Amino acid sequence: MILGIESTAHTFGIGIVKNGKILANVKDSYTTQKGGIIPIEARKHHAKVANSMYEKALKEARISEDKIKAIAFSQGPGLPPCLLEGLKFTKQLSSKLKVPVIPVNHCIAHLEIGRLTGSKDPVMLYVSGANTQIIAFAGGKYRIFGETLDIGVGNFIDTFARYAGIGFPGGPKISELAKKGKKYIPLPYSIKGMDVSFSGILTNLKQKLDSSKYKLTDLSFSLQETVFAMLVEASERALAHTGKEELLLGGGVACNSRLQEMCKIMCKERKAKYFCPHQSLLVDNGVMIAYLGEIMFKKGIKIEPKTKKFGELDILPRQRTDDIKIMWR
Ligand code: ATP
Ligand code: FE2
Repeated sequence: MILGIESTAHTFGIGIVKNGKILANVKDSYTTQKGGIIPIEARKHHAKVANSMYEKALKEARISEDKIKAIAFSQGPGLPPCLLEGLKFTKQLSSKLKVPVIPVNHCIAHLEIGRLTGSKDPVMLYVSGANTQIIAFAGGKYRIFGETLDIGVGNFIDTFARYAGIGFPGGPKISELAKKGKKYIPLPYSIKGMDVSFSGILTNLKQKLDSSKYKLTDLSFSLQETVFAMLVEASERALAHTGKEELLLGGGVACNSRLQEMCKIMCKERKAKYFCPHQSLLVDNGVMIAYLGEIMFKKGIKIEPKTKKFGELDILPRQRTDDIKIMWR
């Protein structure tokens, strides 16, 4: 059994996996009433819940801790204080249980968990708070074919929602408001090749909201139609460019039913297969870390406690998807 620890941002999650089967998936997220995520506070949150999450995961999996063969953890990318708390917990547990550690890339874990849905060689549209990337396997690596040139699409939606005074996380709220929207209000459409950007659209939306000429429902509807069209266009271009025939969704924003619908339509039109994991596996979670950790472990990728490598093991807050050597495909 492999235990996975996720702590890149606001979520502290633990998953337990055995032969690709999920035995436990528990998490607790740091939230704020006002303003954004304060990394130091998020770290304190993770430190506070770590032990209880661990107990909860063991209970859910109905196992004792001596059954754990290795501990996988999110090494990056992410917020340094949050990553450090995950690393600290991982090292302590690994030393206590005398089992090896497997360092996992968070973005690739979002992609690999797609295997559970049957996807084999996808183009992944990874849309979360901090990340917006189009990733596919080519020439021995997971490569980023397109990405945001400024903020992630989730942060963009959440920032607008905060500005409109409807709280955090804004994604689900904007989604509900958008369903009531009737009128499409033209917004800037910002895509270059397979890259997208959101900050100009955000400014434009704020100005439109301030002018009091538009309803928030119509703005929410127009926001979704515009930026999701950009994401679908970039994904389709990546499918055409790579010649791949599968689209896989990942990240919290992929919970949005309108984005899912638009992706399905695009896939149907070009006869590609559409895959979308369960909501609990789209958002940040420990299972995807354990799942990829197990694949890596079976290829012999692990770091034993008390070794020099273990002592040197560190977080990689700016780790890039295409820097990772893929030894398991
Ligand atoms: P990462 O570290 O990968 O960037 P993250 O910390 O931002 O991830 P996720 O849980 O993957 O976390 O994604 C969070 C985002 O998903 C938020 O922006 C939130 O508004 C959005 N989101 C969550 N649920 C929904 C939903 N049902 N509809 C739309 N957006 C959603
Ligand atoms: Fe994520």
